[in-house]
Amino acid sequence: MNQAETLEKMMARTPSAAAQGLAVYDSLGTNMSQPRVICVTSGKGGVGKTNVTSNLAYSLVKSGKKVLILDADLNLANVDVLLGLTPKFNLQHVFSGEKTLPEILVKGPGGLRILPGSSGILELADLTESQKLYFLSEMESLGRKIDILLIDTAAGINNNVVYFNLASQERIVLLTPEPTSLTDAYALIKVLSGQYGVKRFRVLVNLAYSEKEALSVFKKLSVVADRFLSTLSLDFLGYIPYDDKLPKAVRGQRLVADLYPDSKSSQMFVKLAKRLLREEPEVQTDGNIKFFWQELMHFDRQ
Ligand SMILES: Nc1ncnc2c1ncn2[C@@H]1O[C@H](COP(=O)(O)OP(=O)(O)OP(=O)(O)O)[C@@H](O)[C@H]1O
Ligand SMILES: [Mg+2]
Repeated sequence: MNQAETLEKMMARTPSAAAQGLAVYDSLGTNMSQPRVICVTSGKGGVGKTNVTSNLAYSLVKSGKKVLILDADLNLANVDVLLGLTPKFNLQHVFSGEKTLPEILVKGPGGLRILPGSSGILELADLTESQKLYFLSEMESLGRKIDILLIDTAAGINNNVVYFNLASQERIVLLTPEPTSLTDAYALIKVLSGQYGVKRFRVLVNLAYSEKEALSVFKKLSVVADRFLSTLSLDFLGYIPYDDKLPKAVRGQRLVADLYPDSKSSQMFVKLAKRLLREEPEVQTDGNIKFFWQELMHFDRQ
């Protein structure tokens, strides 16, 4: 089966009404529902994905959620560098059987967890059936311990980025007021929507000076999208202002939300986290963590 056929098959699957929205815990504190899986992505590089993912994750943790970040930029260990962490192991060690999933998790600020990705994610499809089943069952038990999986992807429209976007239940497209960022975001949305049938996107504008500016950026994107991609749904999630405290925190390998909780961007990350928690996932799908990995396993790498 070629890649297009595989993806077509995936999109055609009838979703079951998996428990979504609010997590349900049993008496031992185990999450009985499956976590939300949210992918943070962008057309253009350097627009702030890693910072947004990590600070948003931190703010969600502060709101009482159990959050795991998957560092899925397979070229660079993004989140690790941002947080000054040096994980010894990554997913590759789980695939090879050297480590269990819980053994490779890294602790971040405030109790945030990080799952170090590896280019080995692309080798998921090559695992034997029993290796796949073992990995999925490990993922499922990990899924019961978290509420939200946030995925920090690489930029652009390569296969990995497409896969992570398709396998996720929700996606946040990040862009900035720069015209090139707008055209690249549109190009990404066009591919995901036109070729792969993804219909809903949340849009977050980073590095805006005001809500007004962010809204005008969003409007420009929706006008083009409406004209060419008629069945698309774009939601304005909000914006993160330009904040000089953010690069300052980055230089110290700390999160701005942790180091400068009162700064403009940190306050916005808190707002954003609250908004995400208020809003139900856009679609009722099998968008749980096991589904996510199963989907990745089904992709043909070409
Ligand atoms: N809201 C902001 N205010 C000020 N500076 C920012 C803001 N957001 C991002 N930056 C700056 O942009 C830099 C790049 O951000 P980040 O590494 O998060 O981008 P990215 O999209 O993950 O990049 P890549 O595509 O290379 O993975 C940060 O180190 C920071 O200096
Ligand atoms: Mg990054």
